[in-house]
Amino acid sequence: MSEKKTPFVLGITGASGVIYGLRMLQYLLSIEQPVELVMSKAALRVMKEEHDLVLAENDTQGLLRYLELPENAPIKHHYLMDYGASVSSGSYKTLGMAILPCSIGTLGALANGLTENLVHRAAAVCLKERRKLVVVVREMPFGHIQLKNMVALSEAGAIVSCASPGFYHRPESVSDQIDFVVGRVLDQFDFDNALFKRWKQDAAPIVTPQRAKTHE
Ligand SMILES: Cc1cc2nc3c(=O)[nH]c(=O)nc-3n(C[C@H](O)[C@H](O)[C@H](O)COP(=O)(O)O)c2cc1C
Repeated sequence: MSEKKTPFVLGITGASGVIYGLRMLQYLLSIEQPVELVMSKAALRVMKEEHDLVLAENDTQGLLRYLELPENAPIKHHYLMDYGASVSSGSYKTLGMAILPCSIGTLGALANGLTENLVHRAAAVCLKERRKLVVVVREMPFGHIQLKNMVALSEAGAIVSCASPGFYHRPESVSDQIDFVVGRVLDQFDFDNALFKRWKQDAAPIVTPQRAKTHE
């Protein structure tokens, strides 16, 4: 009997750069890592604005088609207000959760212990269970309140980062920049990935399952 893989929780919220979350989802599913996905309403709005991607809530097949993934990809796509979903409970085992991009609204909710939707609740579960929670905030500039919220969330055990791709890997495209950020988040969860060229890594070609869809 094949061993069932522990799922990974992915939250996508309504900050600019939803492509980071979509690329993360595409990568995880392409390596057959089960994903429990929760997307905010604002994330759907940003997908429309940034990628002309119009999805109804919980349109899993539409999402898989957009990402050029098979219909039977190992995804559980939750309704945003379904507090009875698996990821709502700490007794449901997961590898942890990444929220990318993370809006400053979601950041504020998490830093203050609010659970107004399933993104918040799943993240709060990770914190209380001491599972890894990585948030990739996207905003510019940061106000004092957001900076304080980042400190609070970090003190609560989350790994707080920004969607700030590096340049030392000599990116040639927007896809390279996206993959840098996604690859560094995957690193936090020990997913062995070659999405970007690492510092001092030999100049081997980067092999990726697919490229991120951008406007290039
Ligand atoms: C096109 C677009 C881009 C946005 N970019 C950002 C952003 O970069 N960062 C951010 O915190 N909010 C951004 N917002 C605003 C959030 O979507 C809004 O604050 C929302 O309430 C976040 O809700 P959520 O955290 O439930 O996704 C953007 C909204 C739109 C429509």
